[in-house]
Amino acid sequence: MQDGRTTLSKFLIDTLDRQPASVSAPGLSALLIDVAASIKTISGALTKGALGGNYGAAQSVNTHGEEQQKLDLMTNEIFLQHCEWDGLLAGMVSEEMDEVYAIPETYPRGDYLLAFDPLDGSSNIDINGVVGSIFSVTRVRDDQRDAPVTESAFLRPGNEQVAAGYAIYGPSTMLVLSVGTGTHGFTLEREVGNFVLTHSDIRIPEDTGEFAINASNERFWEPPVRRYVQECKAGRSGCRARDFNTRWIASMVAEVHRILMRGGVFMYPRDFKTPAMEGRLRLLYEASPMSFLVEQAGGQSITGRERILDVVPARLHQRVPVILGSRNEVARIGRYHDEYDRGEDKPFSSPLFNERSLFLPETPA
Ligand code: F6P
Repeated sequence: MQDGRTTLSKFLIDTLDRQPASVSAPGLSALLIDVAASIKTISGALTKGALGGNYGAAQSVNTHGEEQQKLDLMTNEIFLQHCEWDGLLAGMVSEEMDEVYAIPETYPRGDYLLAFDPLDGSSNIDINGVVGSIFSVTRVRDDQRDAPVTESAFLRPGNEQVAAGYAIYGPSTMLVLSVGTGTHGFTLEREVGNFVLTHSDIRIPEDTGEFAINASNERFWEPPVRRYVQECKAGRSGCRARDFNTRWIASMVAEVHRILMRGGVFMYPRDFKTPAMEGRLRLLYEASPMSFLVEQAGGQSITGRERILDVVPARLHQRVPVILGSRNEVARIGRYHDEYDRGEDKPFSSPLFNERSLFLPETPA
């Protein structure tokens, strides 16, 4: 996997700055270097673990009503401080902030918008498990360049992202990034402080025998998802005629990373546990950037019924169902949704087995 000594800066200069003016994205490489600096700082803080004095609840709740951890707030602040000053951003949005963060007037304003989840999978902090950060970069539309940055500037579909990535804080810290020319992984060389290209042009295998879903929600899933999971669980004695493995790390970053490394399917589908919620994961700073990375690596990412990158957000913190990974399996799950919606999936489309029914089918047709 070693690709010599291509550092993140060299990669970005080659990929972005040395391109013809028609395809270049001015300042994007410098912005991504600042994002990478946030990630290094967060990585350093996380490595201290409980000794860093940052464990525990912050005694506050975020916009989703979730209790914030001290590390949620600290990592959010690290992103703001590293990225607000450089004159490249017009505003930021984060899982930990209710409103758009406009760049303070003391700094010049740029044309990019940064959306981020500073600490994904934070329920893993206390158990010293894998966590991550996720980010997405878009550009302010030409007609909004001179206007104050408001929510509407951020409500653009994921297919308009100019860069997206995540950091995974595991045994090593990695930055996985795409600027629209494939998905590439960099490993932090801690002693020197460099991100070094170690996983060039990652490709997700088209087929897989591994899927990840929080199985405790099974009774709330829609029939097409139940059908898929039941078929996988039936293994070689069922219609798939092969055995499948399951995985669940409770950190989207860790699940997506595994899928980029060796294939698989990750699902946080629509469910009826909290009927008012369209899904669990947030579109702007979780689903969209991860979908960009997955598609750039040859995988697929859908809500079940549409491509996630085509979903136009209606709200900053909008949630969305997510099914992503190896393209042939994701396509199959999409087909199951389609068959169900058209009433072709008989046992699962019967009124006896709809979302509100107590009669949940055990086996698919
Ligand atoms: O908030 C997002 C998240 O932590 C994801 O990273 C992860 O996939 C999911 O929530 C875990 O959900 P659950 O608590 O249902 O396992």
